[in-house]
This record gives sequence, C-alpha cells and structure tokens, in this order.
Amino acid sequence: MATTNRMSSGFQISTAIVMMTVCKLTFAMVPCDQAKVPEMTLDTALLTVMKTNVNDILVIQLQTKECFNCDLQNVTFMNASTENCTVLVDTRWQYRVQIQPMSNSTYNYLPSCCEDSLTTLFKEGGLYNLYINLESYPNVTCKQPAIQNDPPDNNIPIYVALGIFAGLAIIWLVGTQFSRSHVVFRLRYRYLSSSSSLGPDLGTPTNTSHEEIEQAPKKERLKSLDTFRGISIIVMIFVNYKGGKYWFFNHSRWNGLTLADLVFPWFVFIMGTAMTYSFQTLLRKSVPKSSIFLKILKRSIILFGLGLLINSGGAQPVELSKFRIPGVLQRFAGTYLITATIHMFFARPIDSSQYKWYSPVRDLVDYWVEWIINLGFVAIHILITLLLEVPGGCTGYLGPGGLADHGKENCTGGAAAYIDRQIFGEDHIYQTPTCKEIYQTTVPHDPEGLLGILTSCFMCFLGLQAGKVLVTFRNWKARVIRFIIWGLVLCLIGGILCKFSKNDGWIPINKNLWSVSFVVTLGGMAFILLMFCYLTIDVYQFWSGAPFIYPGMNPIVLFIGHEILANNFPISWQVSNSHAAQLAIDLWGTVFWTIIGCYLYCQKIFISI
Ligand SMILES: *[C@@H]1O[C@H](CO)[C@@H](O)[C@H](O)[C@H]1NC(C)=O
Repeated sequence: MATTNRMSSGFQISTAIVMMTVCKLTFAMVPCDQAKVPEMTLDTALLTVMKTNVNDILVIQLQTKECFNCDLQNVTFMNASTENCTVLVDTRWQYRVQIQPMSNSTYNYLPSCCEDSLTTLFKEGGLYNLYINLESYPNVTCKQPAIQNDPPDNNIPIYVALGIFAGLAIIWLVGTQFSRSHVVFRLRYRYLSSSSSLGPDLGTPTNTSHEEIEQAPKKERLKSLDTFRGISIIVMIFVNYKGGKYWFFNHSRWNGLTLADLVFPWFVFIMGTAMTYSFQTLLRKSVPKSSIFLKILKRSIILFGLGLLINSGGAQPVELSKFRIPGVLQRFAGTYLITATIHMFFARPIDSSQYKWYSPVRDLVDYWVEWIINLGFVAIHILITLLLEVPGGCTGYLGPGGLADHGKENCTGGAAAYIDRQIFGEDHIYQTPTCKEIYQTTVPHDPEGLLGILTSCFMCFLGLQAGKVLVTFRNWKARVIRFIIWGLVLCLIGGILCKFSKNDGWIPINKNLWSVSFVVTLGGMAFILLMFCYLTIDVYQFWSGAPFIYPGMNPIVLFIGHEILANNFPISWQVSNSHAAQLAIDLWGTVFWTIIGCYLYCQKIFISI
C-alpha cells in the first residue's frame, strides 16, 4: 500500500511541476517533501505550514515587503499527501506570506488565502506554525502564525554595546574631572604645531600656521569641523565593516535612508565647508589662480589614483578586464575638481559687503553666480534622469529593476546606470549593488557612478555654503540661526520632493542614485549636525570633540587604511555568524582605527594630500 501511495504522489509531483510551467510560472518549484529542510541563519525564522482538511495542492508564496512593487515568489508547494512544510522567512522587514491552493485535478489556481492578514514581522530565530484549514473554503479566516519558542530580542547586542560605550564615556569624564592637568589629548598643541596646505577639505583639518597667526590673529580654528569629519569617518568605518550585519547599519536596498547612507554625503559636505577656509587663506596670500588650479588638479588626480588602488585590493591579482573604475575616492576627486575649480573664481579674500543693504544675506547674494551654476547641476541631473532615452523602455526609470516593476527587469538604475555602462562598460562598474539580494537584479549598477557627480557637487556646495556662513558672520548667534534655517528648509524641500514617503514621492530618497531629494535632505541634516557640534564644542565648550576629533584630523589615512586592512589581524578575524559576534568584531575594528587616529594625533602626524 505504502509503495503505491508513494508512487502516485511521485506522479503528482512531476505533473505538478510540468503544469505549473505551463501556467507560465517562471521556474519549477521543488515540492516541499523533496526539498532540504532549511537552516536558520542570521535574520531568519522558520515558518511551518500545517494543513488539515485540504485535498488540493498548496503553493507557498513569500516575499519581503522591502521588495517594493515585487510579486510574491512561489517558493515551494505541498501536495495532497504532505502534512506540513517548513520554509525560511526573512525577519528584517515585514514579510508577506500567501497560501495559494491549486486544484488537484486541473492545476488551476483557486482563490488564495489572505496575504494581508499573514503579513507580519517575524522574530529572528523564531519557530512559527501556521495552520491552514480549508474546511469552509473559500471563506477562510487566517490566523497569524503562532510562535513556538521565545528567541531573545536580536537588538540586545546593540543595547549592550551602547551601555559599554556610555560606561566608558562616564569613566573618562569622571577621570578627566579629577585629573584635569593630566589629560592626555590636548587640543591646544594643535594650534601651534600644524602646517598649512591647500586642503583641509578632505585631507587635513583647517590649519593655521605660524605666519597666519601673526598676520591675522583673529583667524579662528573650529574644532567642530574636525569633529564633524571625524564622526563621518568613524561611522563610515563601522558601516563599511558591515555594522554587525544589522540591516539598518547597512545601506538601503534601494530607496530609503539608513545610518550607512548618511556618512559619505556628510563627508562631501564637510569637504566643502573646509574649502571655504583654505580658499580664503590662499587668496589672502595672493596665490595666482593658475597655481591654485594646479593644486586642485594634482589633488584630484591623487585622490582618483588612490581610489583605483583601493578598487584593486583583494587577495587575488587584479583582473584588468573586470577592473572597477568608479569608487568613493574617485567620486571625491570628481566632486572636488569641479566644485573647487568653480569656487576658485568666486571665493573672496575678505568680507566686503558688510554695509550693503543686503548684508544679512550677503553669504548668498555675493555668490549668486556660483549658486546659479550649482543649481544648474541639479537641474541637469533631474533632466538627464527623467529624459535621457534609455533603451529597453527604461527612460525616466528610477527603480531597482529585477523583480520590481513588471517589464523593467533590466532597467536597474535607469539613466544613471545606463551612462556608466556606456562609458565605463558593464564589467568596469560595481557588480553587486545593494538591491541585488532582495530584488534579484542582474544588471550591474554603480552607486558612485558618473551622473551622481552632479548631485554630489551640489552636496559639496551646500557644505561650502556652511563655510561661507562661518567666514562671513563672526557672531555665533548669527551663524547658528543660519544653520538652523538652512537645516530646516533643506530637510523640508527634501521631504516635499519625496512626499515624506519612502517609495511614493516624485523623487524618492536614494543613495544608489544620489537623487536630488537624498542630497537636499542630507544637506539639511548636515547643517543641523554641524550646528550641534559647533554649539557644544566651540561655543559652549561642553565637549572637546573627543574621540571623533582625532580621526577627523587624519581622514585620508584612516579611509585608505580601513579599506585596505579590512580582514587582517588584529582588525578583524573570523567569528561566529551571529549579530552579537559580528557587532563586537565590527565595533572593535572601528575602535582600532579610532585609536590609530588618536595615536597619530598624539604624535602630531597629519597626513594630507
Ligand atoms: C533582460 O535581459 C535578459 C538577458 O539579457 C533577457 O533574457 C530578458 O529578456 C531581458 N528582459 C527584458 C524585459 O528586456
């Protein structure tokens, strides 16, 4: 008897596969009783579907809600004799589960069971049971999957880490209160011991050399700029080291904003802010424009070269036919070259409009041509994104392609990706964009591609505006008011552009495309963060900027160092694949580079290019 049963179910299975292919399913499913029992890894839970009173085939359809505009995916099916079936579900975002009965005789889909009531946020490590009873089918009431165990909150490692860092900070504060005279890191040394160069921008902090102190005693040195840059580089190291493999410490899959998406634009922003100071210094020294331009060019070329060096890192010798050309430092190079060259023509050695009628807004009016040029970049970015003719029906497309948006599977990244593929070639751009995992995209897309240079120039220009506020207005209240207004207005504009929604706006916030709303919103946030640093560090002097200020003075060393030495002892080694262990090793890597930053500072080593 048993043999006959098995034979007949075997027959059913193979027929089902064939028939489903006929039903235009894009792939044949493995029936559940022949599939491997899935194993739980990070960010997953197990869902067991149990059925009673069901004689039809049940197709299990799953998809994460993060996959925007994606269809449910047929994962497996239970034939009539299968009693239960266990599948793996994603616990990072709300997850969609649908049970799709299919006629045992005709293999046609019957009305499906309640995706809406089964969409839920599963807990990592959870074992869930879902009972399907089709007695009164098609009037089925779906119950939420019931959890069988009690897994711990997977954010506990974050709370522990926060507690440890808060504890260390308190010990440090108490310690320094008791022994003020023994404080190890003394910022005052910096005033007298640094050398001047063109570039605080990316490389060095805003410098003041001996001569400048004598010539212009009022020239100030803001610790908040170095601290801001330090916050960006430290967070950047942490997220580049995968941030404990938490989704919110990694880049957005497509649209959206996570911690990891913040830091690179902020870096570009502060590059612009520091640029204001260095140009003012150069112009006061009457350095001719031609030699300023040569310095800009040299610096951009070095940055670009270092970027290529980082791209060629890895255990294997680099394969030139698949060598990625764009990258973070390449983007810095392009942005710096364009923004600095333009600013060279508009920078002012002194604040000469103090007594003009427009003096409260002279930080804007004096630079109106520069503003028009930079707004032009934004306009060109929008026009190219929306109007450039991209073959395959991808014109004006802003989405990730792949599973999203029917018929757009090869449109990943729209115009931006198309330009990069045409200019660099498919093999010379980033192959694993963040959308690849859940959207299953097959087309490469480079988040640091060419088109985004236009918007990162605008980001840099917003930072330059912050610098103009600082060099034009000496009174701290005048500066803070302007920072607040800029911050709020830019965030509001960004919010309107994306209609305060993740996916439904005119221009969604998107780090992969450096969309206009992304740049404007992050520019606004940068003004607010800079204001916070400025008030606490430079105005009220509550905070010395430690520990961020030290790495903030050697960003280029830390950036290149952490990229090249990412997997080497003692920065990293293999640990178990749990959030706790991964978070610990990633935080250790971040602390390691912070210590290197402090060490270089103590040794008065400041490397810039
Ligand atoms: C996308 O590209 C693949 C492989 O080149 C091709 O098979 C498929 O038909 C394309 N899809 C669309 C919608 O053009």
